[in-house]
Amino acid sequence: MDHKETLDSLLHEMRVFRPLPQMLIDAGVNPQDLRAARELADIDLCAYWEEAAEELDWFTKWDKVCDSSDAPHFRWFTGARCNIVYNALDRHIETVNKNRLALIWEGEPGDSRQYTYYELYRAVNRFANGLKRLGVTKGDRVVLYMPQLPETVISMLACARIGAVHSLVFSGFSARLLRERLCEIKPRVVITADGFYRNGQVIRLKEEVDRALLSTPDGIAESVVVVHRANVEVEMDSARDCWYADLVRHERPHAPAEIMAADDPLFILHTSGTTGKPKGMVHSHGGYMVGVHRTFKWVFDLKPTDIFWCSADPGWITGHSYLVYGPLLAGTTTVMYEGHSLYPQADRMWNIVSKYGVTIFYTSPTQIRTLMRFGHRYPDQHDLSTLRILGAVGEPFNPEAWLWLYEIIGKGQCPVLDTWWQTETGMIMISPMPVSVLKPGSVTRPLPGVDADVVDSEGNPVPAGKGGFLVIRKPWPAMFSDVLGDRAEVMDHYWNRIPGMFYAGDVARKDEDGYFWIQGRADDVLNISGHRIGTAEVESALASHPHVAEAVVVGVPDKIKGQVAKGYVTLKHGVERTDDLHRELKEHIRRELGPIVVVRAIEFCDDLPKTSSGKILRTALKE
Ligand code: WTA
Repeated sequence: MDHKETLDSLLHEMRVFRPLPQMLIDAGVNPQDLRAARELADIDLCAYWEEAAEELDWFTKWDKVCDSSDAPHFRWFTGARCNIVYNALDRHIETVNKNRLALIWEGEPGDSRQYTYYELYRAVNRFANGLKRLGVTKGDRVVLYMPQLPETVISMLACARIGAVHSLVFSGFSARLLRERLCEIKPRVVITADGFYRNGQVIRLKEEVDRALLSTPDGIAESVVVVHRANVEVEMDSARDCWYADLVRHERPHAPAEIMAADDPLFILHTSGTTGKPKGMVHSHGGYMVGVHRTFKWVFDLKPTDIFWCSADPGWITGHSYLVYGPLLAGTTTVMYEGHSLYPQADRMWNIVSKYGVTIFYTSPTQIRTLMRFGHRYPDQHDLSTLRILGAVGEPFNPEAWLWLYEIIGKGQCPVLDTWWQTETGMIMISPMPVSVLKPGSVTRPLPGVDADVVDSEGNPVPAGKGGFLVIRKPWPAMFSDVLGDRAEVMDHYWNRIPGMFYAGDVARKDEDGYFWIQGRADDVLNISGHRIGTAEVESALASHPHVAEAVVVGVPDKIKGQVAKGYVTLKHGVERTDDLHRELKEHIRRELGPIVVVRAIEFCDDLPKTSSGKILRTALKE
């Protein structure tokens, strides 16, 4: 947005959903509490987060809640000593949570494993001792190139327990990318699996590690630990490789949690990057644990009987914060599924919900749009009555997909929470709570303690209804604490684009009620005849046609209008691609958005190009 500072908004979503009376009665945080929390955070941000920190166990308390002396490099809970794993495990085995299920895991072929908090604690300790035996000590880095397995959770926690820094590399990445990450991260140990199941196939993983390590400089990955999962033949280098089971067999199930400074690094994770090179973000024990714990408990209104399922891969921040750390910090049961959502058929997700009595389901708009294509036949075959809260993250949630989730899965009984946040933020930032008034397609309002706004390129708030840049003004505890590589350059990107504010890289608008609507990435803004329009609005309009499953819109150059939109569309199951439909879709856009948005062409596709975390790759389509 160089020459004009605001975005036009054309989409007018009027539907409003109020919380059910019972939700208001049962909620741990009701609207009055929420208002009080917002007021406290507005007056005294540190007091708000200090109160949140008091809910966790610390070896030593902090001198300062937030040290801004070196801003924008903010430091949280300085002087404090803690370990996130102590809070995720040790704390619970002293309470009734000891024998509660911590983890329910389901493999794609249908096998299942479950761990109570006590069992998980013991497994983590044994592997922690195994890692120590391999020479891993505090501050060492460990790369986890792991699919969705219980050992993935165990490995993350075992590393953190002994003060090592874990870094997950998504199991869908190839040897080439893994190699790049290994060279950047320089881990002492790599943890992987022989293979895993995905869409009925066995994916060989150890092979990729071997290939990646063929050409890395010396000193990277002294050891490779291999989890046995898929029974595939692997080559083991006796000087370097060992089986996970052999390593832990004789280890004791006790290992002290390392005493960490609050801002000691916990993990490194790269941004998923729809645009630009992924950046290695570092998160640390103290601030991250406070931010994730508070947002997990509040946003999902956690109850002792909840079974929480986050369908994200642990290789992404959503998996870190709300599949592993959030649920375990809160002492709840977390569900993990190894495989593909359409395997063996399109009811797998609903089958898992009913089989384990999932009460909270946290997923992505992409996932919902994929499942939506098959209509309500599959959801209807399963008992989904245990569900009480639904949520999504990762991309703009178009109102049609939102409504499908609300009506077909939630049966109008479950709030649908559209949560906005990033790898950089570590925790949910803008999101409704179960007691909020919902508008489909809106992420509603910032959580207490989050000072978000929509501004122009000078940092001035834009009026209601106009789009601009999404920024965060004040620091928050789960913010990245450091970065890999050139820190000054990265800090400059986030904090100096709009001086003094955290630049999220998204465009958004606020409506008259102060509700936020995310319009897409700042790099994806369309400029049609001088009108600047977020891609999300045009995509939502296309996807509101009953035959469309998913739509992507990119801008293509046009002599007269500067840019026109080109749409790529996947259709619902059984819908035919006809010229009539093509014409009808163009007409539909005009009806929904007015004559400004000219969609030059619409192409029907089987699939849309996506990043491995499910985000649409507009750059690929533009090319
Ligand atoms: C996008 C995922 C619209 C956004 C936790 C952000 C969203 C990027 C939403 C971060 C949402 C995330 N509505 N867009 N509710 N949530 N995004 O780092 O563009 O994988 O900047 O973190 O996803 O993606 P990341």
